[in-house]
Amino acid sequence: MKIAINGAAGRMGKMLVSLAKDAGMEVIARVDIAEGYDSVWPEGTEGVIDFSYHTATPATVEEAVKRNIPCVIGTTGLTAEEQEIVNKAAEKIPVVQSGNYSLGINFLLEMARKAAEVLGKEYDVEVVEMHHKHKKDAPSGTALMLAKSVAEGRGVAPDFVYGRSGEVGERPAGEIAVHALRGGSVVGDHTVMFAGDVERVELVHKAQGREAFAAGALKALGWAKGRAPGMYTMRDVLGFA
Ligand SMILES: NC(=O)c1ccc[n+]([C@@H]2O[C@H](COP(=O)([O-])OP(=O)(O)OC[C@H]3O[C@@H](n4cnc5c(N)ncnc54)[C@H](O)[C@@H]3O)[C@@H](O)[C@H]2O)c1
Repeated sequence: MKIAINGAAGRMGKMLVSLAKDAGMEVIARVDIAEGYDSVWPEGTEGVIDFSYHTATPATVEEAVKRNIPCVIGTTGLTAEEQEIVNKAAEKIPVVQSGNYSLGINFLLEMARKAAEVLGKEYDVEVVEMHHKHKKDAPSGTALMLAKSVAEGRGVAPDFVYGRSGEVGERPAGEIAVHALRGGSVVGDHTVMFAGDVERVELVHKAQGREAFAAGALKALGWAKGRAPGMYTMRDVLGFA
């Protein structure tokens, strides 16, 4: 499969380029605003993977619609308007979008959903993430996905509290809180904590490198090839849905 990578000069982009061949893909466009990179995709591009910056994602997905090719989106921090453009595109082409393409995190999402269902609202949920100091958005897309899984498991709306400061008072029952830590070179740590009165359950994932995200995104593009238009996630790709 001949593919374009948007954000090719970035941390994830470089990893995608280096792993593409092993995944049976040929990178024919390394697109980035950085010097020395491509600005267009050549004829014959069969799919695109976007790990860039949220403002760049709408143009990428619209170009994929023009070419009628599948698009895999890893970029996080999209605004509501940008997300709407992605949703519209998914009416015309297959789009896979995930805040985290690693197998381990996608497994953790399933466990968080199940734990929330079994433990119920008596266990207070705190989602804590830590990432390297260069990360531009907060909280991480993955932390939001984990919090959403908890809400789904409980059967409640995805309303979350982000951090705490000042006279916050007693913790209301049923609250789901999300906290973002930043520092050093941490690739991505996520903990979903279920704190009960007599015990505490913690589901923990620590990424040791970016390979797992890149391998998952390449797998997703191969999976999306030839699919009907629609919005898909890694749950679909991994067969959890
Ligand atoms: N979904 C996942 O599994 C996952 C995993 C890791 C990172 N991410 C997300 O992927 C994105 C990229 O992460 P990163 O660590 O590689 O960041 P990075 O800053 O290292 O790389 C981003 C690249 O995008 C390029 N870029 C910016 N605007 C562009 C534009 N208009 N057109 C083309 N290229 C453009 C930058 O020049 C840069 O090279 C972030 O949103 C991050 O949160 C997602």
